[in-house]
Amino acid sequence: MQASHSPHRYNAAARWLHWIIALLIIAAYALILSRGEFARGSPARTLVVQSHFWAGIAVLILAIPRVFNRRAHGAPAITPPLSSVMQKLAWLTHLLLYLFLFAQPLLGILTVWLGRGAIPVPLTELHIASPFAVNKDLAGEIREVHETLGELFYYVIGLHLLAALLHHFVRRDDTLKRML
Ligand code: HEM
Ligand code: HEM
Repeated sequence: MQASHSPHRYNAAARWLHWIIALLIIAAYALILSRGEFARGSPARTLVVQSHFWAGIAVLILAIPRVFNRRAHGAPAITPPLSSVMQKLAWLTHLLLYLFLFAQPLLGILTVWLGRGAIPVPLTELHIASPFAVNKDLAGEIREVHETLGELFYYVIGLHLLAALLHHFVRRDDTLKRML
């Protein structure tokens, strides 16, 4: 894996973190959107919803080393180089994606803590108790922000995916290869 040290690619940790986090985000969406398939109050629905919580918490935990890694190693150069407008657009999209990795799970955690006082661990009696008093009204408001942000990010993530494909197949640069 000598290539992992090449300046033409993100380092191995950055690549692994990118793809594991991407899969966890897809899982978080898939789980919560599939909850309607299961009867309210059924064990299967509880498992699906609680797994959504934990996929999201895993995103938050992994986002921390990811940001440190990025700050320590930067991003490898793209060949051929991007125009300054494209660089700025990429920078802005990536900034939004990074903010989402922290904001979305935190909003979810607050929703559950303020709404029910604890985050349950699936298939166990364990839970993470809330440091805050239950406040269902506030929980409802934060949940709406969480849901709206979740919907908005279909577009941001979609744009990111489209950009990766356009770089690879149309502009034919090494943007995507740097992340593989
Ligand atoms: C990156 C991580 C996350 C993403 C992408 C995400 C996305 C979403 C989306 C799109 C919805 C709305 C679903 C719909 O309208 O049908 C939702 C709902 C919800 N999420 Fe998350 N979420 C994440 C993390 C979390 C975390 C960490 C928690 C809590 C620990 C959480 C708790 C909730 C709750 C309580 C709801 C409402 C569920 C319901 O009404 O049954 N989310 N999430
Ligand atoms: C599912 C398909 C995905 C593909 C094909 C993809 C592809 C890529 C590629 C090629 C890069 C390198 C871009 C560059 O350095 O200019 C990148 C970077 C990045 N991706 Fe993704 N990605 C995907 C999903 C996601 C998801 C779901 C997220 C998070 C919500 C995400 C967050 C990021 C971030 C924050 C960067 C910036 C890395 C840096 O700091 O330079 N990606 N992605």
